[in-house]
Amino acid sequence: MAEVVIVSDRVAAGELVAAEIARLVRGRADVVLGLATGSTPLPVYAAAKRALAGVDVSHVRGFALDEYVGLDPQHPQSYRSVIAREVVEPLGLDPARVHVPDGASARIETAGEEYDRAIAIAGGVDLQLLGIGTDGHIGFNEPGSSFASRTRVKTLTRQTREDNARFFASIDEVPRHCITQGLGTILEARHLVLLAFGEAKADAIAGAVEGPVTASLPGSAIQLHPHVTVVVDEAAASRLRWAEYYRETYAHKPSWQGL
Ligand code: F6R
Repeated sequence: MAEVVIVSDRVAAGELVAAEIARLVRGRADVVLGLATGSTPLPVYAAAKRALAGVDVSHVRGFALDEYVGLDPQHPQSYRSVIAREVVEPLGLDPARVHVPDGASARIETAGEEYDRAIAIAGGVDLQLLGIGTDGHIGFNEPGSSFASRTRVKTLTRQTREDNARFFASIDEVPRHCITQGLGTILEARHLVLLAFGEAKADAIAGAVEGPVTASLPGSAIQLHPHVTVVVDEAAASRLRWAEYYRETYAHKPSWQGL
């Protein structure tokens, strides 16, 4: 099952996950990081900037989860721009080693296949950061996504477009389509780290961690993976039936076990 770590706030979550990223990079220079966008991973990136200070990151590689289709790649809210601004620049990564699915590709039908191939050639993702949508999506795998799905074009739900309207002038500006790593692609990463903060994510987290494994709640796919860490604040953990057990387990975790 997933290890569930309930932390006091998003800063503590960021520090915990950033320490693991720094440990990986110190151990192997060419670590492959799976990068998420949205608000959730920002504390991880902020803490990683500190944790990686003085560490050689010139060989680190990164693959973003998803991108909007039909949004100018130069738009400040394209995930290409977000990854450059929030990850590549502050962490000092080599931009040539950090990849985002090409939502502007003239061959969008095959762009997903090429992206999966690039991940495979890089040796697969070592640590995949994930947020979760209020409708339970991970990546942009909306409800109904196949657990075997690969990187491909998807249609965003109205709920996701409403949630993401805060990054745009209005909901009408939020693209309807995206290109996202599939659930099958995500499940191939060696370690999944799912983060969530705030009451609005409590139902999605309870469903993903403790609900039935169902395509209706794509985040529940994490239950099929052998190495998952779920890092949540008290509000996002508030509907977890086994919260006390998770707290006790983490408090008594053997020191030889990493994250
Ligand atoms: C972003 C992504 C999405 C977000 C999710 C939560 O790359 O894949 O699954 O993680 O929509 O978004 P925030 O973090 O903004 O609440």
